[in-house]
Amino acid sequence: MSEKLERTFVAIKPDAVNRGLIGEIITRFEKRGFKIIGMKLLKPTKEIAAKHYEEHYGKPFYESLINFITEGPIVALAIEGINVIDIARKMMGSTNPQEALPGTIRFDFAQIKECNVIHGSDSPESAEREISIYFKPEELFEAKKTPEDYFVEKYGHIE
Ligand code: RTP
Ligand code: MG
Repeated sequence: MSEKLERTFVAIKPDAVNRGLIGEIITRFEKRGFKIIGMKLLKPTKEIAAKHYEEHYGKPFYESLINFITEGPIVALAIEGINVIDIARKMMGSTNPQEALPGTIRFDFAQIKECNVIHGSDSPESAEREISIYFKPEELFEAKKTPEDYFVEKYGHIE
């Protein structure tokens, strides 16, 4: 697998926000070294939810999925990192928490697929599309500099 710097879209779903799990979930991504480059708390409108989940239109679970996500609030996240699209999905675990592996977010924090706490883009195309549904370009920020970068800018490199 080749390493690519990527951006993905993650949503912390209403069940997790309501249960006070925002911090726990964001911490997992930050601890892996991924950067949060966009973040907002919002209640998705029907239009936004329909765009987000357009691939599922007509499926038996579509209406309840849209009703669930539009109850909000959700935390919309744009996350940057190496191979973050696939790795974030691995960290989330299987759609059905009953089938997710221990240590994944859905195993550790959820029980049923209708309330599986998190969404993550499933391909580079979805990532780009979903980020643009939830964020304007000016709402995304370059991955931040490290304290060492500031130090080197101010004092120069160690001799
Ligand atoms: P997500 O899009 O939310 O990241 O989840 P996913 O890729 O793992 O699963 P996907 O097939 O895209 O399904 C989207 C969400 O719809 C709900 N779902 N319910 N009742 C059902 O059979 C069923 N199947 C899917 C789940 O909440 C899933 O996350
Ligand atoms: Mg999906």
